[in-house]
Amino acid sequence: MKKSYFEIQPWELVTHKFNDANNLVTESLTSIGNGYMGMRGNFEEGYSGTSLKGTYIAGVWFPDKTRVGWWKNGYPNYFGKVINAIDFISLKITISGTEIDLAKTPFEDYYQKLDMRNGVLTRSYIVNLSGKKTRITFKRFLSITTKELSVQQVEFEQLVGAAEIQVESRLDGNVKNQDSNYDETFWEPVTQKATATELFLSMRTKENPFNTERFTVSALADLNASKETQPAVAVQNELLVNDKRSFVISENERVSLLKRVAIITSRDIADAEHETTAEHILARTSKDYAELEAEQTAAWAERWATSDIEIAGDDAAQQSIRFNLFELFSTYYGEDSRLNIGPKGFTGEKYGGATYWDTEAYAVPFYLGVAAPSVTKSLLYYRHNQLAQAKHNAAEQGLAGALYPMVTFNGIESHNEWEITFEEIHRNGAMAYAIYNYTNYTGDDSYLANEGLEVLVEISRFWADRVHYSKRNDKYMIHGVTGPNEYENNVNNNWYTNYLARWVLKYTKSAYEAYGAKSKADVPTAELLKWQDIIDKMYLPNDEELGIFVQHDTFLDKDIRPVSALAAEDLPLNQKWSWDRILRSPFIKQADVLQGIYFFGNEFSLDEKKKNFDFYEPLTVHESSLSPSIHAILAAEIGEYDKATEMYNRTARLDLDNYNNDTDDGLHITSMTGTWLAIVQGFAGMRTWDNTLSFAPFLPKNWNNYSFHINYRGRVLRVSVASSVKIELISGETLQIKLYDKNFELSNEITVAVK
Ligand code: BGC
Repeated sequence: MKKSYFEIQPWELVTHKFNDANNLVTESLTSIGNGYMGMRGNFEEGYSGTSLKGTYIAGVWFPDKTRVGWWKNGYPNYFGKVINAIDFISLKITISGTEIDLAKTPFEDYYQKLDMRNGVLTRSYIVNLSGKKTRITFKRFLSITTKELSVQQVEFEQLVGAAEIQVESRLDGNVKNQDSNYDETFWEPVTQKATATELFLSMRTKENPFNTERFTVSALADLNASKETQPAVAVQNELLVNDKRSFVISENERVSLLKRVAIITSRDIADAEHETTAEHILARTSKDYAELEAEQTAAWAERWATSDIEIAGDDAAQQSIRFNLFELFSTYYGEDSRLNIGPKGFTGEKYGGATYWDTEAYAVPFYLGVAAPSVTKSLLYYRHNQLAQAKHNAAEQGLAGALYPMVTFNGIESHNEWEITFEEIHRNGAMAYAIYNYTNYTGDDSYLANEGLEVLVEISRFWADRVHYSKRNDKYMIHGVTGPNEYENNVNNNWYTNYLARWVLKYTKSAYEAYGAKSKADVPTAELLKWQDIIDKMYLPNDEELGIFVQHDTFLDKDIRPVSALAAEDLPLNQKWSWDRILRSPFIKQADVLQGIYFFGNEFSLDEKKKNFDFYEPLTVHESSLSPSIHAILAAEIGEYDKATEMYNRTARLDLDNYNNDTDDGLHITSMTGTWLAIVQGFAGMRTWDNTLSFAPFLPKNWNNYSFHINYRGRVLRVSVASSVKIELISGETLQIKLYDKNFELSNEITVAVK
């Protein structure tokens, strides 16, 4: 049984305990964000115990130079980092001369709550200083109606005796990353001001040879107290301004302070206008905490109205799906097409970069279902806007066309491991798949016909150059790749990569035939013929005897044995085994052949699906958080419901229960989409092949029922599954759908028994 860090409650993460040993994990789990910025659950008052400080602004990053002696042509020049920005939540507290720090100060009655209904993080405890007791309660949220706004309240309730309290509100730019080389810092000071009414701090990312875009981030803060206090403000140093308030609180008295901060960046506003822009924002913002919280709750309620999944009979499952949806929406809600969804979102530093293939493979199908098509379209535009950089990446490898990066902020590859950047080229196929997915799901071909086709043509040019022709076999092959299974490198003919490359060429060719005449893309006939030749002669390893597609040329020569043959202490492999041992082993990190079978589910028979699932799943350690959801979906399709449920639980509570023992450095944001996919595409069997929406639901054993909404082609549908399946048309026009392979016209609602 895995340990839960918070109580199981359907809408909340609540704990009454505080434990330094768990703090990194609970800080990750209490991260909040609003798409524009976000932060870990760090303590406002500061904490000298175990902690990872993390306040991040979307799109603000630093190209950290990592040149090494064994550099070779084509290696990326830097590692793109998500960097800690101004710590603007800081509220240091002193009570009768003692600075409050939970690592040192005696406290009792601890309580922490993340409310997923509105993204408000509350923390409260009583400090007991020589018998005088004060309850301190912090509340904070990042507004989803005014993206630049952070709202915090601290309330003091004097329970026993009187006390002298000092609150120091700070804007602190003395921040660094835990993963910095040699404690390097990324910021230089620009402006610092402290007046009786407000604090202002502005700082800019440092210059370095790769920093083509330097960012200025500014914060303007004010503080409003419910009791008359005298501000004592100061510029402490070039990167720190503060405002200290002192007051005496008598027994039974309550005093609260509201800290409002507006954070502005050079991504949106010219540096010279940061202060006035921030002033305007604070001027039009209420000074009443309750009013601000009510506005936030109403805005979140709107999001939940069409995206919530309700599960009866399993509170742990209910909590986890809401937690995953909450963190996803806190990371990205499609408002800014320059942004994307980092694997850690705003919850940690690990991975670097903000954009992975995770977006196209995992986030696109999720956002298509839960949000308006414009949200997914923003993600597609993001890649189109970076087409020039993708061409640059291909040229760096001496190849034609466009190679989308494995990891990036601005379109240029920004990861520094060669086996990922040179070899994990399958991600280029996922970019094309997302265009197909959007078009097929929404029925809107406007992106495909214009921007999409331009992207597809350049990706196809890359594949046509990256394959080679094997005369001996009269086949096209792709050597020296890493498939989705990163527990092998430099393999030849990864089935998934070859299959995907061939599919991209086919899809591009047919899109070009349909839309080419009106598009900017120009593909000469000779090139189209070449693509066709590759399509016809692409080599795809398979084994007839086993009835499986073979992961790559020599996979079956490995010492094939199931994960169940390993001793418990060998797992997780990535923490226990040398990299060399992992690479030689038959153990698979995440769906590889099965990822292809999932993407192209309409191109394989049920028997092929079963045989491949039964062969590969037992070899898979699921040490990428992206893995269990794909397995849950396929297991459900082939009728292995218990396996599907097991895989669902693993993806759903991955972070809440710290499944892979790695939640301390941040949440697995992109794989959270997998929880939704596992329910909607797995348990409910939703598919959208051939312009038809279909379902084939089952009910997991310990659930009484579950229900969810989806957006589909201008309609909102509600699907509820108990002993019968009910599909309701909430809005939009009548629709033809399939339920367990039978056709229905959905004009109001349909109910059939669950199979
Ligand atoms: C996975 C990749 C993924 C990355 C970021 C890695 O562990 O193997 O497929 O893109 O994490 O989520």
